[in-house]
Amino acid sequence: MSALHLTGIGHAFLGRTVLDRVTLSIGEGELVALVGPSGCGKSTLLHIAAGLVEPRQGHIIRSYTRHAVVFQEPRLLPWATARKNIGMAITANCSGRDRQAHIVAAAMAAALEEEDLDKYPVQLSGGMKQRTAIARALASEADFLFFDEPFTALDPALRRHMQDIVIRHVGGGKRAGLFITHDMAEAVRIAHRIVVLDRRGNGVLGERSVPLAPGERDDRMIFETVQHFMKKDPLFRHVEELDERRAG
Ligand SMILES: Nc1ncnc2c1ncn2[C@@H]1O[C@H](COP(=O)(O)OP(=O)(O)OP(=O)(O)O)[C@@H](O)[C@H]1O
Ligand SMILES: [Mg+2]
Repeated sequence: MSALHLTGIGHAFLGRTVLDRVTLSIGEGELVALVGPSGCGKSTLLHIAAGLVEPRQGHIIRSYTRHAVVFQEPRLLPWATARKNIGMAITANCSGRDRQAHIVAAAMAAALEEEDLDKYPVQLSGGMKQRTAIARALASEADFLFFDEPFTALDPALRRHMQDIVIRHVGGGKRAGLFITHDMAEAVRIAHRIVVLDRRGNGVLGERSVPLAPGERDDRMIFETVQHFMKKDPLFRHVEELDERRAG
């Protein structure tokens, strides 16, 4: 059974179509990476899937209980400390001490220091803000997680660490998730399946399952799989075009 099922999703902003007939299904326990060129509608699709934007066409079936979203920008409440921002996601009726322990555990998992928890967003670096937003999602009781390019503000070592957290938290079987990224190595490292959105949001171009389970893939396998996708697989051609455009 699917945790999330989107059928025939269409959307337009100011009369301009950004998504058309997009159908996507994510199974229970499955982590799906969504890739596609900048501006093709990935964030819009995620916002529709999470119920934040009402689509013009199509319908959505959600079989999970609760979701959490890590947005492309951190979206922290500026008047609340990191601790309060993370704590906002905890809806369970637990004692003050349990609640604090839960916040600290999520913060540690997101590589924040305990002393950072009493800082306000303005006192945090860009990467720390993004890690606070990730900790907020980890602290929630969500069984479906949406991630919109969550690690772009992080250095490579931290990025890897956060990918491992996503693999353990979502890829372990109990939860499901949709993860948008521009980084093919990231997609191959963390996802069960990679879905490619058309460059103009005209449906899903195709998808590829990634061999082995997330967490079982070593660096060599990840490198070779990315090379294969980018050099030999026509599905990823326009993703490569995008990279060339960026490099130039
Ligand atoms: N609120 C809005 N009002 C008008 N146009 C919008 C709005 N949000 C997004 N768009 C437009 O919809 C298109 C898709 O935007 P979206 O943010 O979904 O792209 P994306 O694939 O997530 O891009 P990126 O990889 O750069 O994050 C873009 O052309 C964008 O300008
Ligand atoms: Mg986006």
